[in-house]
Amino acid sequence: MKEKVCVFSGNANRELALNICKNMDFKLKEAMVTRFSEGEVRVQIKDNVRGKDVFIIQPTCPPVNDNIMELLVMIDALRRASSGRITAVVPYFGYARQDRKDQPRVPITAKLIANLLTNSGVDRILTMDLHAGQIQGFFDIPLDHLYAIGIFVDYFSKLNSKNLCVVSPDVGGIKMARSYAKRLNAGLAIVDKRRISPEQTEVMNILGEIKDRDVVLVDDIIATGTSVIEAVNFLKKIGAGNIYVAITHGILSGSAIEKIKASPIKELVITDTIPLPKEKQCSKIKVLSVAGLLAEAIKRIHKEESISCLFD
Ligand code: R5P
Repeated sequence: MKEKVCVFSGNANRELALNICKNMDFKLKEAMVTRFSEGEVRVQIKDNVRGKDVFIIQPTCPPVNDNIMELLVMIDALRRASSGRITAVVPYFGYARQDRKDQPRVPITAKLIANLLTNSGVDRILTMDLHAGQIQGFFDIPLDHLYAIGIFVDYFSKLNSKNLCVVSPDVGGIKMARSYAKRLNAGLAIVDKRRISPEQTEVMNILGEIKDRDVVLVDDIIATGTSVIEAVNFLKKIGAGNIYVAITHGILSGSAIEKIKASPIKELVITDTIPLPKEKQCSKIKVLSVAGLLAEAIKRIHKEESISCLFD
């Protein structure tokens, strides 16, 4: 397998790429991914990739546009270097929140990015906890979708909380929250929220019983933290016990860190799909690694083995 598989990384999350390689007992292959003086992405693949099964690790996290462009240019370079098969490993798929026309004259950026990737010549996609499952259908090439739920469930099972309740921050997240509740043998509650603007939400009500119970609020993305903090403040007001928040993709933009520090959140648990720079690290934030899961998925894709059985 070592002779046939090549793993590369752009600049989006090199640490995750190195950890994936460590889990596979592989060496990350060398590629120059820099900029020309005017800012254009400059790539040169430093290893022979002819006929190889190539994987590029590149979440499209902030700086989103730069990271997407690096991924596209790397795919082009690898295709022109006669790679056998190219898989884009995009643990966090950005531009996903605009996934339908919910207002007049707005784009569907998730589809646009899917088109850009497909047209760049990539053969397959490996991604994780997409903002909406149906984005899989925006690709006409094979896509494998991983879930971080197992990693979170292992962590929260160790809390040994006897009166745990999983909370979905909105109606759209019920399916995910229900899976967590089932696997944690916990109760389920739903926050009835209204989105006032992309940056602002208003909590209307809560469906379910959370008084004096420890809660785990689950979601796929935390960006400015507005939705989570709004929900958490409401949960505290109506008598929740310890409040944990489990979110796969920690974008943590704007003043998210300050808001988290000042909030009643006991612990925010995220994964390393997106790097957490030193200046954003704080005692309330715990990072779980998805490197092992991604490494296993890469091995299985190469050996043409089932991925779904990882989640049975
Ligand atoms: C909403 O649909 C998402 O699942 C997240 O709740 C939202 O994108 C998080 O954004 P923010 O942290 O800026 O409120």
